[in-house]
Amino acid sequence: MTPLEKLHKCHDSIKSKIPFKPRVAIILGSGLGALADEIDAAATIDYSEIDGFPQSTVIGHKGCFVFGHIGGNPVVVMQGRVHYYEGYCMSDVVLPVRLMRLMGAEILFLTNAAGGINAEMTAGDFMLITDQISTFAPNPLIGGNMEELGTRFPDMSGIYNAELREIVQRTADELGIKLFEGVYVQTTGPSFESPAEIKMLRTFGAGAVGMSTACEAIAANHAGFKICGISFIANLACGMTDNPLTHAEVMEAADNGAPLFKKIVRSAVEKM
Ligand code: HPA
Repeated sequence: MTPLEKLHKCHDSIKSKIPFKPRVAIILGSGLGALADEIDAAATIDYSEIDGFPQSTVIGHKGCFVFGHIGGNPVVVMQGRVHYYEGYCMSDVVLPVRLMRLMGAEILFLTNAAGGINAEMTAGDFMLITDQISTFAPNPLIGGNMEELGTRFPDMSGIYNAELREIVQRTADELGIKLFEGVYVQTTGPSFESPAEIKMLRTFGAGAVGMSTACEAIAANHAGFKICGISFIANLACGMTDNPLTHAEVMEAADNGAPLFKKIVRSAVEKM
């Protein structure tokens, strides 16, 4: 089956179960899934119920779509994503993004837990993503172009939509939450970066590093989504403190950050 056939198979499977047209799609990152529990869910579907859908294997990542409303906006929320480091090919990693576009969503709100590279950050901060570096992971558009989604050589000069960014930044200001702005860089993982890599990434202009999101944003931009994104700074990147990094630390930090994170995302989406 080609990636496009697989995408349509998943779409047919979901359409037959849930006739819901979302406007905003939200992907919740590691440990940040709690937002979905607060949505008055019109329907929920487990990834395992969708024929051909990639299943996440990471602890802390649930696997379901939640459909409902935030303010007046019909939303689909992904509680859990799949990562390239789990062994999926890139077309599987970005299948959910494309699927939500086929469902009818126009806005994509990406979230993730990331390591802070900007020396002014501390664990627990938030960063609005202004741009990204995806060069260290394979491009998700490699392979036959899905013409019905987008063009072969899509422009990437404004991946993160200026109007949406303004809404998110204004929302954080209103809530009194400090929101850094910066460039997100994606590495493949699953190993965390080395101190030398973090120094290099800082020189390249990155503010935060993570193992998801940039490839999703490329596929989403290709498919015509308006995109915004927030990184939750779960830890300072490798070499910035004396402590070795652990996944448990990232998950614990995300748990602690979840209440503020939920507030920003919810009130920003209400304004979109
Ligand atoms: N590096 C990469 N990915 C991450 C990190 C990090 O320090 N923290 C959370 N996700």
